[in-house]
Amino acid sequence: MNEIIENLLTRRSIRTYTKEQILDTELAAIIEAAKYAPSGGNSQSWHFTIVQNEEKLNQLNSLVRESFKDLIVDDRTYRSKIAGKKAAENSKYNFYYHAPTLIIVSNDREYSNAMADSSVALQNIFLAAHSLQIGSCWINQLTWFGDEPAMREMLTSLGIPENYKVCGAAALGYAAGNQPKATPRKEGTVTIIK
Ligand SMILES: Cc1cc2nc3c(=O)[nH]c(=O)nc-3n(C[C@H](O)[C@H](O)[C@H](O)COP(=O)(O)O)c2cc1C
Repeated sequence: MNEIIENLLTRRSIRTYTKEQILDTELAAIIEAAKYAPSGGNSQSWHFTIVQNEEKLNQLNSLVRESFKDLIVDDRTYRSKIAGKKAAENSKYNFYYHAPTLIIVSNDREYSNAMADSSVALQNIFLAAHSLQIGSCWINQLTWFGDEPAMREMLTSLGIPENYKVCGAAALGYAAGNQPKATPRKEGTVTIIK
């Protein structure tokens, strides 16, 4: 099979990591891949904030746990948020799975392609990481809670511009344990018209 297709078919979301930090050369290659993603009108307005400082990561985790505590859920709440709220009650909860690197992707909140551009950049991050035998996972909690005042203050202290929102984040690190099996892909999601 074409090795690019094989790389994207075998990428999995990784949720257990070793403590070992990825190499700076690997990080640089991954960020380069992110920057070469397409962007609407070639705007390239994304910002990549790479957090490898354990204290800062722990602070983010505390803020996420606080945000979950305050989150009011009902029947219509996205089920991952409900599950996250429950999981965050546990003092061992860690929203980035103790990955040694977290890349926060933010973009101009007024820009209509902010999410689309950031998402394609994130996919480049995941695929580049996988090609380098580095595990990764999309992390959504900072997108949910990025505008909570305390979280926003923290994001600003990390250099994320005030007019930027968090569109997504990537946990990165070497996988601990076996490669997870792919969850089955749903049928009926494709229509071909010839
Ligand atoms: C927009 C988006 C948000 C996601 N948020 C999270 C998240 O916060 N935490 C997490 O563990 N996985 C998250 N995921 C990963 C999905 O759970 C995962 O991609 C899906 O279960 C399929 O598994 P695979 O990536 O191994 O193919 C997210 C994925 C996407 C695309």
